[in-house]
Amino acid sequence: MDKWKYFDITHRFHTFMNPQSHGRIDELIALINLQDGSEVLDIGCGKGELLIHLAAYGDIKGTGVDLSPFAIAEGRERAKTRGHDKNIEFIEMEGKEYTEELIDKKFDLTVCMGASWIFDGHENTLKALSKITKENGLIMSGEPFWKKLPSDNYLTDTGINIGAYNTHSGNIVVAEKLGLRPIYALVSNLDDWDKYEHLQWLGADDHVLKHPEDPDNEELLKKVAKSSKEYLEEGRDVFGWAIYVFRNVNI
Ligand SMILES: C[S@@+](CC[C@H](N)C(=O)[O-])C[C@H]1O[C@@H](n2cnc3c(N)ncnc32)[C@H](O)[C@@H]1O
Repeated sequence: MDKWKYFDITHRFHTFMNPQSHGRIDELIALINLQDGSEVLDIGCGKGELLIHLAAYGDIKGTGVDLSPFAIAEGRERAKTRGHDKNIEFIEMEGKEYTEELIDKKFDLTVCMGASWIFDGHENTLKALSKITKENGLIMSGEPFWKKLPSDNYLTDTGINIGAYNTHSGNIVVAEKLGLRPIYALVSNLDDWDKYEHLQWLGADDHVLKHPEDPDNEELLKKVAKSSKEYLEEGRDVFGWAIYVFRNVNI
């Protein structure tokens, strides 16, 4: 089935499409306290919720880039409904290509949450974002980490390469080696994770009930069942996630 359709169905009930709660993201937005007029770029912006929450907190100008037509359409609709469409532009495009086109442009805050594969991993994401972030501007990245070593079975079943992710402290060390100064880390708890995972079951169930004729239903339910099993049997214990904020001091 089309991957964007799968992602749209399984993330239908998510607002933020990552394992972190709205309330704690709002606390983070208040902590970083962007100045009025700040320009923000979010690569892999999903439904644009971070930009919308930032615009609700203060006067920012946001750009959200995402490759999914479903996410972009929903982001535009959400920004309009909540009165922030004048401040936020949504672009349906490959995220890496978009940043490579920004030769001279620099932002006050650049973001990539839960989509570091766009730049081929955490380190390359930070490198790419630091190039388009102003001196002393901020970089926000949402990245998984290993809480403990996963079993070989888990790696085989999920197809995850152990080297694709670091530890929590490793994620910070990588940034420090690039000359970035860590200023905050918001670590997801199990409740955040459970909500992120279980909303995917709810989305799939809702779709199948409403569209019993959809030929993709069997594949959809199989994929969701596989990823739930992996999560419940091991992912829940070994996989962590955090939103990191770094100051772009060494450019
Ligand atoms: C896990 S979601 C996170 C969304 C959002 N950052 C959030 O935290 O709510 C990952 C997002 O990356 C987008 N994405 C995946 N590959 C992409 C690419 N090559 N370029 C741009 N966006 C991409 C997906 O469509 C999806 O919206």
